[in-house]
Amino acid sequence: MAVLFTGIQPTGFLHIGNYFGAIKNWVKLQHEYESYVSIVDYHAITVRYDTGSMPHNVFEMATGLYACGIDFDRTNLFVQSEVPGHAELTWIFNTVTSIGDLERMTQFKDKSKQNRENINVGLLDYPVLQAADILIYKGEVVPVGEDQVQHIEFAREVSRKFNVRYGDTFPECKALLTETPRVMGLDGTNKMSKSRENYIALFEPEEEIYKKVSVAKTDPARKRRTDPGTPQKCNIFSLHGLVTSEEQLEEITTGCTTAGIGCLDCKRVFVENLMEVLDPIQKSYRDYSSRKKEVKARLRENAEKCRAVAKKTIVEVKQRMGLTPVFSI
Ligand code: ADP
Ligand code: TRP
Repeated sequence: MAVLFTGIQPTGFLHIGNYFGAIKNWVKLQHEYESYVSIVDYHAITVRYDTGSMPHNVFEMATGLYACGIDFDRTNLFVQSEVPGHAELTWIFNTVTSIGDLERMTQFKDKSKQNRENINVGLLDYPVLQAADILIYKGEVVPVGEDQVQHIEFAREVSRKFNVRYGDTFPECKALLTETPRVMGLDGTNKMSKSRENYIALFEPEEEIYKKVSVAKTDPARKRRTDPGTPQKCNIFSLHGLVTSEEQLEEITTGCTTAGIGCLDCKRVFVENLMEVLDPIQKSYRDYSSRKKEVKARLRENAEKCRAVAKKTIVEVKQRMGLTPVFSI
């Protein structure tokens, strides 16, 4: 069975961009691949964070992922810093990586702008750690949202460079996208993201979601209820695509272009359809939240399994690189 690897930062909560852009795929693909999903706390510390909230955030992320359908027995869900091999392989990969390539990464440029007072080496090295995450398990398939594609291509380059220098060791990994790899935020201009106030959280109650959606921008041409609109220019219509059937999309298109329905009617249908997906996930979230011990025990066991796999790769890598004595590990 080919290996699937992906990661997510423990930044508090999940939003529907994460779900429809990535997690939905992880749930589906866990039946087809040997699956590893990591809560990447070592990535999260490359920006300033609250140490007191970190343990809670890590646990919340695990609970949230299980609620979305990540299966206890099908996916190795684990916490990155529990497996030291990731950091070890990062160091090794640093020596086949050029600084220029890292400086050109879009996420590094964006985050450097946002965190001018803390442009640390970890922020620059972030993609190398990500490559180590994937390749330490010899991951081939990496399901992510569109914003991560550049990092996965970078990981493929790292694998190639290592193989050329030290012999064939790592596979070439590739990104796998969902049908909606870039879910737009409620502001209609940026991708949905935790760092922007433009998200619908996965575990938000329906009333809160409706409140946010009801004030979200639509086609600017529809100033009054009687003005006809163009669905393709409306952000809510693009969000409908996540949860609404083809048939209902056609009805909405007709309603919008003839001003037969108003934006609020359209928004109400969206929230109704969204809640059909979110209701069972929210119920499951409450269930897993009350099984804290079980979730923690599972994370511990999984980390142990991962350490064993990681160690094997590190031994192989050290042997190829002439780093001795390998028998002491
Ligand atoms: P955020 O950008 O909100 O901080 P993360 O960086 O933790 O989210 O992303 C976790 C996963 O969700 C990644 O695979 C990422 O590509 C995906 N993802 C995040 N936001 C979106 C979005 N708006 N549309 C599609 N996928 C997304
Ligand atoms: N950088 C990814 C993000 O912010 C998270 C991540 C870390 C990851 N390691 C990974 C994703 C390995 C895929 C594979 O979303």
